[in-house]
Amino acid sequence: MRTRDAILPDAEQIHRLISAHFETGTLLPRSFAEICENIRDFVVAEDKGRIVGCGALHLYGLHLAEIRSIMVDSASQGKGAGLLLVKSLLRRAEKQRVSSVCLFTRIPDFFARLGFSVTTRDDIPDKLYKDCCACPKLHCCDEVAMVRGALPDFAILRQPMSALVKLEA
Ligand SMILES: CC(C)(COP(=O)(O)OP(=O)(O)OC[C@H]1O[C@@H](n2cnc3c(N)ncnc32)[C@H](O)[C@@H]1OP(=O)(O)O)[C@@H](O)C(=O)NCCC(=O)NCCS
Repeated sequence: MRTRDAILPDAEQIHRLISAHFETGTLLPRSFAEICENIRDFVVAEDKGRIVGCGALHLYGLHLAEIRSIMVDSASQGKGAGLLLVKSLLRRAEKQRVSSVCLFTRIPDFFARLGFSVTTRDDIPDKLYKDCCACPKLHCCDEVAMVRGALPDFAILRQPMSALVKLEA
């Protein structure tokens, strides 16, 4: 089992892996085009040359990055691929000198052992403005926000005007 940076020919398999989970609501849907556009965010886990998992690191700025789309094929779970993927993305964040890494999850115990602590989405305004404001689950979110490193003390994104009403509702 090893991880490596994803390249465009991996996009189809990454899309297949993620699609298997967005119907359950575990992962956010990502279109094939979106995966191609952001392929440099992704790492893949390979077992005997076959892609069995993926994960992505989205950079907001020096103050924040987000781990997204962590997923291991059900037949390959429990062999350490999930752990390898997260560690690889954390190394990427370190290389970019990012001071804080966040994620949203329903399995906080898995990430707690990797140094993530539970926080609130209000403490991560960039994530709130980028995704949560447009999410149908804005007021009934069932995911836990987690952060590793110092909480960001500013946001690079602006709150969209359309979201003001939604947030206050
Ligand atoms: C979560 C997931 C990525 C873990 O991948 P994996 O390759 O099975 O994990 P690993 O084999 O690296 O497990 C490492 C450790 O984490 C533990 N672990 C695995 N899944 C866990 C979970 N859901 N909750 C808590 N701990 C978990 C394992 O027991 C193992 O512990 P050990 O070292 O004491 O044996 C995988 O189960 C998956 O793809 N799940 C569906 C998609 C998902 O929920 N993604 C997360 C979205 S935020």
